[in-house]
Amino acid sequence: MPTITCVDDFRTLARRRIPRFAFDYLDGGAGHEIGLRRNVEAFDALKLMPRMLVNVDKIDVSTTFFGRKWSMPFATAPIGAGGIMWPGGEEAIARAAVEAGIPYTNATPACISLERVKEVAGDNAWFQLYVGRAEPMVQDLVNRAEAAGYDVMFVTVDVPVPPRRLRDLRNRFTMPFAWSPSVIWQLVQRPQWSLGTLMNGIPRFANMERYAPIKGVQPMARYMSSQVTGKFDWDSLKKLRDRWKGKIVPKGLMSVEDCLRAKEIGCDGIVVSNHGGRQLGSLPSSIEVLPAIRAAVGKDFPLIIDSGIRSGEHIVKAIASGADFCLLGRAVVYSVAALGKPGPKVALEMLKAEMEQVLGQIGYPTIAELKTKPPVMD
Ligand SMILES: Cc1cc2nc3c(=O)[nH]c(=O)nc-3n(C[C@H](O)[C@H](O)[C@H](O)COP(=O)(O)O)c2cc1C
Repeated sequence: MPTITCVDDFRTLARRRIPRFAFDYLDGGAGHEIGLRRNVEAFDALKLMPRMLVNVDKIDVSTTFFGRKWSMPFATAPIGAGGIMWPGGEEAIARAAVEAGIPYTNATPACISLERVKEVAGDNAWFQLYVGRAEPMVQDLVNRAEAAGYDVMFVTVDVPVPPRRLRDLRNRFTMPFAWSPSVIWQLVQRPQWSLGTLMNGIPRFANMERYAPIKGVQPMARYMSSQVTGKFDWDSLKKLRDRWKGKIVPKGLMSVEDCLRAKEIGCDGIVVSNHGGRQLGSLPSSIEVLPAIRAAVGKDFPLIIDSGIRSGEHIVKAIASGADFCLLGRAVVYSVAALGKPGPKVALEMLKAEMEQVLGQIGYPTIAELKTKPPVMD
């Protein structure tokens, strides 16, 4: 196995192991990708003031969130079309999350069904809902999530219009992917991925394909993009709030006003997120808006953050800046694209070791202490 020292090593390897259209879909962002870069740079720019002469012989990165103890303060983020990163890769991530003691989030447009995720991940399974244009589909997805026994449901609110991702446009990327000469050439260059994908079955939208009126690759791709809707508004979110008995958490809020309103209508928490820089380059980074949001919603309201987290050091900075919990998107998915099914376990162990090293170095032996006297400096 090649030596992996950080998330970037996974990324480098992933680029060599999976077809370009898949890597670009994972790695890319909106427009010229300034937001994507800004997300990571904003985390890098934060500094941590150390406390010395603190007994850090025992370091504990576990935390309690949504009434449960987790071994680390993060979940894996919902990833649409995750099945194209590695055959069976989504299930491998879910299994690694359970083994590591953290939540796994199933995305509405995932290639693994919400029912299967629940079988694999049990109480570690969270669900992410996209509210599509077709009302019966949304109702059915919510009913299915309820029947499967999900408690935590993210409702993604930051995709009112489709994004412009230049890499995907240049690659003419569609999901399910279409068999063009360029795609076939990319598959020939990545035989292990291609063979595995053939054996495992071409990735499909496991939660959603049943709702498409016409089957087939192109109709399915058209159906998926036709479901993006700008109609979803505060009234719709409130109705969902009243309908869903479990925890409902809007994902993709960035302004203090929006977060206060979500709290007011009874949401159980918020994911402060710019969708990993995938929707619009000019949005602020989520880590820079987080402190003001924390100040506004109060110290006890559950806040999750994502977008740009690439290390245990970044996770520590997120918690020290006011988050209770994090979501990791690319940082975990690169690992499955780089090493196949064993990748996520390696990534989660590495992130834990990174967090422990940072906490030890700055003299904060527990996650709780990070919150009481935050070490973050601008
Ligand atoms: C390939 C990919 C697919 C994604 N699909 C979804 C999705 O289906 N639903 C969703 O709410 N967010 C989706 N996201 C956004 C992630 O849940 C998360 O907000 C983002 O990846 C966080 O940024 P990071 O990748 O820098 O950690 C996706 C992100 C990536 C990279």
